[in-house]
Amino acid sequence: ARTFFVGGNFKLNGTKESIKTIVERLNEAKLASNTEVVLCPPAIYLDYANTINKRSPLVKIGAQNTYTKASGAYTGENSVAALKDIGIEWTILGHSERRTVVAREDDELIAEKTKFAIDSGINVILCIGELLEERKAGITLDVCKKQLLPTIAKLTKEDWSHVVIAYEPVWAIGTGLAATPEDAQETHKQIRDFLKEKLGAELSEQIRILYGGSANGANAVTFKDKADIDGFLVGGASLKPEFVDIINSRQ
Ligand code: 13P
Repeated sequence: ARTFFVGGNFKLNGTKESIKTIVERLNEAKLASNTEVVLCPPAIYLDYANTINKRSPLVKIGAQNTYTKASGAYTGENSVAALKDIGIEWTILGHSERRTVVAREDDELIAEKTKFAIDSGINVILCIGELLEERKAGITLDVCKKQLLPTIAKLTKEDWSHVVIAYEPVWAIGTGLAATPEDAQETHKQIRDFLKEKLGAELSEQIRILYGGSANGANAVTFKDKADIDGFLVGGASLKPEFVDIINSRQ
């Protein structure tokens, strides 16, 4: 069985004080022992969050983005080597906000970043997902396939043990309108079938596929019986006490 996984993407939110509150809440909370948690604060607070986290290996700290080079003249980028240096083991890559809002990251660049991170010993939460127009046009799966293909081409089979896929339909992010468990399950199943076609049955059964988009403390439990939903990538609710309920939603 795949280990349930809950990521918290703080995005560009938080202060030293609020991040302390969130990490300490998890330090003290009763957490499901069969769930992997990765908290992703803004880069500036990674070292701090990692230092005050007392729940490793259950709870890990991760970055929200990394670059394709470890060092050099790349102003403003995050280095996977620097992450390793401060004991960070995870990063999010390919988030829709980096694809469409703060940068124009394309599938090739995201694949390159993913390969470089894994080769450098950093695990990746790889985000995919369609825009509302694409959903309306009935091309959700085509979009997800297109987003995954360059990464599939670059990674070895062994590399996939360091990747968690997050399916985040863009129309559900930050809108309060989560996909229904049935709709999410259908897409997750289709993504897994595609992975099976490309990577084989065994590997496709091992890769975790998270749902992201307005997941919260109340709706998380409604995804409980969905076979291909292996966890959540949570934005807004990861900043709140209800994040603990999401972590514990599979108990
Ligand atoms: P919300 O949970 O705020 O909708 O954000 C989801 C997300 O983008 C996580 O990466």
